Amino acid sequence: MQIFYGKAALMDYLSTLKTTNSSIGFVPTMGALHEGHQSLMLQSTKENDITVVSIFVNPTQFNNPEDLEKYPRTLDADIIKISNINPNIIAFAPTVHDMYEGKTLSQPFDFDGLENKMEGKFRPGHFDGVGTIVKRLFEIVKPTRAYFGEKDFQQVQIIKKMVEKNHLQVTIVVCPIHREINNLAMSSRNERLTLHEREEAGIIYKILNGAKAKFSNNSAEKTTQWVKNQFKKNKIFTLEYFEIADEKTLTTCKRKSKNKKYRAFIAVFVNNIRLIDTISLN
Ligand code: PAJ
Repeated sequence: MQIFYGKAALMDYLSTLKTTNSSIGFVPTMGALHEGHQSLMLQSTKENDITVVSIFVNPTQFNNPEDLEKYPRTLDADIIKISNINPNIIAFAPTVHDMYEGKTLSQPFDFDGLENKMEGKFRPGHFDGVGTIVKRLFEIVKPTRAYFGEKDFQQVQIIKKMVEKNHLQVTIVVCPIHREINNLAMSSRNERLTLHEREEAGIIYKILNGAKAKFSNNSAEKTTQWVKNQFKKNKIFTLEYFEIADEKTLTTCKRKSKNKKYRAFIAVFVNNIRLIDTISLN
């Protein structure tokens, strides 16, 4: 399996490998790979001649230094997982210096307001960091298709907006959420939960499903209040936000409209570990 630790070497290699008609699938990740990441890679290998997976814990998208410091880094295990999926996948694990060239700063983006809601509101600067690194990675890999998970739905909308505004020649492919047996959305952060917390965290999806049922014959406000009450009763999890929003614009649903698609978004804390999830309400 080919692994590159620097962008120049990867770009050289890709330029020798790529012919006029070959397609490149790209899966950007921050490592600590789980089945959710693996499903993205699998889909990319099915749809493209070449697949590149990046593993880079991007410092500029972390607003909380403790979260950055404690983010799991498991490169050796990640490489084994990738080669088990398909040994032809190319891994790219650059250093911070290689990606930021001494200036570990993000560039400011205008995502037409998508960046100010939910994750953007509670994690200031987060989407500037995501936009900066994904744009840079796209410039290096020059993918035909790039694969992102629906779990980070707001991130997907942000990336689509960046592609549209910058006229980038890449198709964004959105992949379904992979869940653990108790329906907790798979996440690298789940590794930091105790066994008990991880088992109990199934409640997040249970509440999301309950909210979906409520929303079918109640207002967004009533549904949101119901969710808040569920978390008030819970001793382990603290609700950071629950939002019902229009899928396209991510604006909060005040009054339901028949022509719009809605989605619920949630962020929950357990012992300083932040978990997010989402569900379609239509
Ligand atoms: P990371 O959290 O490692 O996720 C990498 C990709 O895997 C993202 O597109 C994410 O939505 C997807 N993913 C995560 N959990 C998933 C699950 N349970 N099911 C399906 N897909 C899942 O998202 C990032 O990294 C970073 O922000 C990144 C885009 C790499 C930029 O630094």
